[in-house]
Amino acid sequence: MPLKKKIKIGFLGMGTVAQGVWKHLDKNRREMSSRFGIDYELSRVGVRDLSKKRDVKIPPSKMTGDLYEVVNDPSIDIVCELMGGTGLAFEMTIAALKRGKIVVSANKAVICERGAEIFETARKFGGAYFFEASVAGGIPVIKILREGLVANRFPLIYGILNGTCNYILTRMERENASFETILSDARRLGYVEADESLDIDGFDAAHKISILTYLAHGAWVRTKDMLISGIRGIQLEDMLFARDFDCKIKLIASVRKNEKTNAIFASVYPALLPLTDVVANVNEVYNAVSLTGDVVGHTVYIGRGAGQDATASAVIADIADAIRYKQGAPMRPPASELGSDVRLAHLDEISARFYLRLEVKDAAGVLAKIAAILARQNISIALLRQYKHETPGRAWLVLTTHETTESDIKNACAELKKSSVVKGSAFVLRIFSSVK
Ligand code: NAP
Ligand code: HSE
Repeated sequence: MPLKKKIKIGFLGMGTVAQGVWKHLDKNRREMSSRFGIDYELSRVGVRDLSKKRDVKIPPSKMTGDLYEVVNDPSIDIVCELMGGTGLAFEMTIAALKRGKIVVSANKAVICERGAEIFETARKFGGAYFFEASVAGGIPVIKILREGLVANRFPLIYGILNGTCNYILTRMERENASFETILSDARRLGYVEADESLDIDGFDAAHKISILTYLAHGAWVRTKDMLISGIRGIQLEDMLFARDFDCKIKLIASVRKNEKTNAIFASVYPALLPLTDVVANVNEVYNAVSLTGDVVGHTVYIGRGAGQDATASAVIADIADAIRYKQGAPMRPPASELGSDVRLAHLDEISARFYLRLEVKDAAGVLAKIAAILARQNISIALLRQYKHETPGRAWLVLTTHETTESDIKNACAELKKSSVVKGSAFVLRIFSSVK
């Protein structure tokens, strides 16, 4: 294939991530073109608001408010979809792939929801789709999973996959700063999604674990089939109490596969993680991905999971791969086609240890009543502690359970809510174990 003199790159979006990508490509052009084996040029940039001030200099003649001018431009080789969302971003991705272009994306939401159609369109029209930046920011986890660990099956993948939530939890614990103050700092630092509830309510991490599930097991798990909860409701008290149980609270995304039953279970929830787990000690915007392979054993990868430069690093790695593909290197299939063998686990197949925080009357007989409610649901208490409450006559009762099912804990919580000795609802967290 005769080589062009320059690779032409188009951008859909010129926000936090895209500006980081172009900033580094422009600043390090000599080194980058030497590593890529070819020079490159920015051809066209599609945005929503042409009047917006940007931190990188782009000639106004290259900017457009019409995204089709990017995807329809026959001279453009690589389209970087860095706009986000699942509507227009999907439409533009499909349009570019149908023209045989290579698309590089950081958009985990669209991959989780429409990945199957995107990969199929890329295959059918001879284009390609690269998405390293969609999971765990600067950690090249997709390459690790597909290439470095290709020999393995993955009974357990878990980790911290949302930088914003880890940043919030870390600062809440360190400084007892308010949730709103920390969230606005995270926004300023470019960590937060345009729709911030995607971060806070666990959906962003769910999109990412869905992608890892597909790569590891060849099956798509939709968010509706996952157990998902975010970090709202976690109090500083929970963090302090967790410490007393030698744990830290982290938003953990995970997927387990039972090799005997072929059942997979993907979830995202804030969990108590033993301090002995390396993931528990990963703080601020850092992500951690623990991949357990049947051949390699346990491996853990740590790096910045959000923000302009970390994400730009992953997008530029994809651009390098896109150029190699353009020059004739074969494309790996996104995942093995064995996914049809796996099934989703039923909720009654899932068990965990739990943490319960209860606001109770500080009076004789209260503990016995609570123990009786738990016993009726077959729940066995592992540890129990009582803490001072700011309201006189009340106490915090914090307990952890032995292994129990999701449905037993749900029934127990319903009973506790009705009990005259408990005020309000029990606050429940799971205790994550990587060894069961
Ligand atoms: P951002 O700062 O909000 O930038 C989005 C860009 O897309 C903006 O330039 C915006 O144009 C453009 N855009 C959005 N909707 C548009 C529309 N309807 N028509 C035309 N242009 C539109 O977002 P970001 O943080 O860079 O994130 C981009 C993607 O990367 C998302 O998929 C996100 O999930 C993913 N990601 C982000 C991070 C991170 O740390 N930020 C990390 C990993 C992955 P205007 O500038 O004119 O408004
Ligand atoms: N909002 C995401 C996060 C960006 O905080 O992890 C990186 O995907």
